[in-house]
Amino acid sequence: MAIPVLVLNGPNLNLLGLREPGIYGSATLADIEELCRLTGERLDLEVDFRQSNHEGELVDFIHAARTTARGIAINAGAYTHTSIALHDAIRAVALPTVELHLSNVHARESFRHHSYLAPAATGVICGFGPRSYVLALEALAGILAG
Ligand code: DQA
Repeated sequence: MAIPVLVLNGPNLNLLGLREPGIYGSATLADIEELCRLTGERLDLEVDFRQSNHEGELVDFIHAARTTARGIAINAGAYTHTSIALHDAIRAVALPTVELHLSNVHARESFRHHSYLAPAATGVICGFGPRSYVLALEALAGILAG
């Protein structure tokens, strides 16, 4: 039986493909969803793929995952750098959680160097473009198999 995992996307990621392609590339969020589904099939993970521009809705998705998923991969976008609520939600549900980013946030503006999620996450992956999602799912599959 495939293991259910939540792949959660935060604000502005719905505009991938159009948004600053020099930084984020040409893949759309639908392309990344498809990549996650194919990766899930390979790893025997059932991927629930979601996006919201609203902090509270992201909190609700994380809470729901407590009973519907066994792990979370999250690209919280700019909320990574601002949201104590997402930090608390990740701690509250106590699921293995991988923080991920398309871009290498540490090579960018200093306000992107701090993450409120990282201390609550199992680990962090950034800088590999859409492949960051694949790496995050591989990390989750390894944790959940162990
Ligand atoms: C991002 C990096 C964040 O700093 C930014 O606010 C985003 C996207 C990434 O995937 O590289 O929206 O999370």
